[in-house]
Amino acid sequence: MVRRLWTYAWPYRGHLAAALGAMVLFGAASAGLAYLIKPIFDDVLPNRERVGFVAGAMLGCYLLKGVGSYGSTYLMTGIGQRVVRDVRNQLFRHVVGQSAGFFTTWTTGRLMSRVTNDVHQIQQAVSSTVGDLLRESLALVGYCALLFYIDAGLALVCLTGAPIVVYPLLRLGQRVRRTSRRSQEELEHLSHITAEAFTGHRIVKAFSAEAYEVGRFREASQRLFRINMKVTGAIAALPPLMELLGGVAVAAALWYGSREISASRLTSGEFASFIAALFMMYGPAKKLSRVNAGLQQAAAAGQRIFEMLDLHTEVVDRPHAKPLAPLGHSLALRDVGFSYDGIEGERILRDVSLMVGAGQMVAIVGLSGSGKTTLVNLLARFYDVTDGAVLLDGVDIRDGTLSSLRSQIAMVTQETILFDDTIAANIAYGNPAASAGAIEAAARTAHAHEFIVALPEGYATYVGERGQRLSGGQRQRIAIARALLTNAPILILDEATSSLDSESEGLVQDALARLLTNRTSFVIAHRLSTVRRADVIVVLDHGRIVEVGQHDELLKRDDGIYAKLYEMQIFDRVPPGKPMRAVDDREPAGSFGGVDGEAGES
Ligand SMILES: Nc1ncnc2c1ncn2[C@@H]1O[C@H](COP(=O)(O)OP(=O)(O)OP(=O)(O)O)[C@@H](O)[C@H]1O
Ligand SMILES: [Mg+2]
Repeated sequence: MVRRLWTYAWPYRGHLAAALGAMVLFGAASAGLAYLIKPIFDDVLPNRERVGFVAGAMLGCYLLKGVGSYGSTYLMTGIGQRVVRDVRNQLFRHVVGQSAGFFTTWTTGRLMSRVTNDVHQIQQAVSSTVGDLLRESLALVGYCALLFYIDAGLALVCLTGAPIVVYPLLRLGQRVRRTSRRSQEELEHLSHITAEAFTGHRIVKAFSAEAYEVGRFREASQRLFRINMKVTGAIAALPPLMELLGGVAVAAALWYGSREISASRLTSGEFASFIAALFMMYGPAKKLSRVNAGLQQAAAAGQRIFEMLDLHTEVVDRPHAKPLAPLGHSLALRDVGFSYDGIEGERILRDVSLMVGAGQMVAIVGLSGSGKTTLVNLLARFYDVTDGAVLLDGVDIRDGTLSSLRSQIAMVTQETILFDDTIAANIAYGNPAASAGAIEAAARTAHAHEFIVALPEGYATYVGERGQRLSGGQRQRIAIARALLTNAPILILDEATSSLDSESEGLVQDALARLLTNRTSFVIAHRLSTVRRADVIVVLDHGRIVEVGQHDELLKRDDGIYAKLYEMQIFDRVPPGKPMRAVDDREPAGSFGGVDGEAGES
């Protein structure tokens, strides 16, 4: 784990070398200070000799120690921050690149916790723990050297106790790692509860579930508190342990040292210097005792991050994937079968074969749960087919690159998703380089321009998280404008079932009609008006295509499923009082060819 973390620090080895230099300075100056006690006791105090020299040397040592301390802290923290920045960026890139299946198992709150909390733990470790480890070890080496220089025998006597603490230190370290991992898990859970309660705030209010959410949060919070206290318990045991060891060492020094002095093998100045060095060792030793705990905490967080980085997304470019050419003549499904649980799982789609010519519009209809959304998700490779293949001009889309496939597809999802940004930025989401004119043209075509200019800030209005500040119909029209602006040849549309008032229903229908013009489109249709426009209607039932044809033709089949669906009034009819203008007079092909052209007209 530590070795893997180390690979992130390796690019900054230059900084690390400089930090090490600063630490050596710090260690040497620290030992020098302890050594100066000897001339103070032996020369300065009894005989008033070398006062200026000793005072000057002391100042010099403090100065060097300060420079070393500042330099090493600054550089080590810098390395920690850089490592964390890199890990964080890599983690985010990795998570964003995961396939659709990943996001159905991992919740937003948990992912957010990994990207922020776990990464933060590592920063703590790299900046302070590794810094401490190096700096305090060097200081300790300096003091030790001084102890042996003054009196090797005395030093040996004092340091015999040191190995005794190593065992408890390691045991406590293991405990810290375990509890720290659990603490991060609890934190993740807390983050999950928070994210859910906040994003679902309307439902929380509507069902008066505040108390329930507060209770859930409090419970998780309490668990986090308990486990954090366990971590604290383990870490707080370390300094007293070190202090005890220090006490033993000083007692041994007094006992052995007094005998040495009376035998005149040691001056009292040397002894004072020795004791001073011993006391000064306490600081570094205390810090070092925590180093292991800190490293264990980082290892726990690192493990969680690496677990995530090692999750490979199911939908990836094949090794020799080539860019797919733009759709030329057909998009086809050949004997497609699909299961969310892989090869063994039960098939949600079975033996689906379908050939769609370029420029055609396919309406997909069927009861809820029949597999309509699943089918269109396969076209954009949100999931890969389990059996069969999806072919773009005869080429298996899995042999092409994901980006070349998805750049050909525009999507309007059932549930409109907008970002907390301006209206203009939301429309230009798939095409950030679009000019203001092009954005406005798309908005006009989508019948959104009128309401946008009526807003106080116009196109610069922020829509709020998930577009909360707009109405449902307004959101849909922004989503349509967004799809229009990408100008992709293939369109996938999961028609919203939400009923709008007849005014906005008409506008949305009209916008949809314009969007469909001149594209190869797959429309999951819930409105009769949409279904009637289709070149071909595909009826799905329990994951199989049971009927294919046009409206009138399918209606004529007496025992047909489509006829039954129609009879069940499963399709939303045209709202009264609003003629479906767009449905009946399709615009001539190519009228939407250039978004800019539309802007010119208006
Ligand atoms: N991520 C998923 N993991 C496992 N099963 C899923 C997943 N998504 C959908 N399913 C299952 O697949 C089946 C088909 O779902 P799908 O969303 O394709 O239906 P649909 O035809 O779009 O229905 P609706 O008209 O209600 O949107 C359902 O039985 C559903 O439970
Ligand atoms: Mg669906």
